[in-house]
Amino acid sequence: MTIAGASSPLLSIDNLVVRYGQITALSSISLHVGEGEVVSIVGPNGAGKSSLLGAIAGLVQPSGGHITFAGEPIAPKALERTVRRGVALVPEGRHVFGGLTVLENLTLGATVRSDHNAVKDEIARFFDIFPILGERRNEAAGRLSGGEQQMLVIARAMLSKPRLLMLDEPSLGLAPKVTDRVYELLAEIRARGLTILVVEQNAPRALKAADRTYVLNGGRVRLAGASVALAADPGFEAAYFGLRTEAKN
Ligand SMILES: Nc1ncnc2c1ncn2[C@@H]1O[C@H](COP(=O)(O)OP(=O)(O)O)[C@@H](O)[C@H]1O
Ligand SMILES: [Mg+2]
Repeated sequence: MTIAGASSPLLSIDNLVVRYGQITALSSISLHVGEGEVVSIVGPNGAGKSSLLGAIAGLVQPSGGHITFAGEPIAPKALERTVRRGVALVPEGRHVFGGLTVLENLTLGATVRSDHNAVKDEIARFFDIFPILGERRNEAAGRLSGGEQQMLVIARAMLSKPRLLMLDEPSLGLAPKVTDRVYELLAEIRARGLTILVVEQNAPRALKAADRTYVLNGGRVRLAGASVALAADPGFEAAYFGLRTEAKN
């Protein structure tokens, strides 16, 4: 619902369809993310979560629908332009450049920028927050632990100076304590006013971190609302596991 006089959401998705040949990964998905919000998408493996982020990032070509970011459409297959417009994606599986150093990995995140001194300051600040990564700045990133690699890829995405930070399953394969650290970093990023869209199979974690949550299953939104309301909703599990067929919102 649009309130008269309110600005339109930072990200707006209407009836998005993504197909891979015969497989329909997303069937007419609609959702929005307001500036400064933390929104999560939860759903089991194969729900369509990565396809959704891929389409927003301009990596995956939609078969139908519209994606609008900051009032303008996202052009499909235009990843670099999308990054320049302020959309950053931290993909599933913490892809560091294993043979490059920690510092080189971070510097790569800033290739779309020309304010090199500011980039240096931001990297220095990140090393203050994560001294372990600072100490290992000249070591190959592939030798870091899973948790350290996750911190590194988030910092790398932040160096593109995004308006919208998207994360695909940041807690996957990490111990609970390490996941806590990742989500503390996201809380710090949020406190700086950034908008975050996070995808998780780990629903409890996502519900705790996000203002609003969409439950995705079989390429459809099964349930959506304020995270606190969904956490208390007796129909949540059924929606998550695809036992609930009607799409709400
Ligand atoms: N490149 C691809 N080619 C063919 N099918 C794909 C491709 N990527 C994803 N799919 C299929 O699309 C559906 C949604 O996948 P995905 O978006 O990766 O879901 P999730 O991230 O929620 O696990 C699944 O059925 C998956 O097998
Ligand atoms: Mg995925």
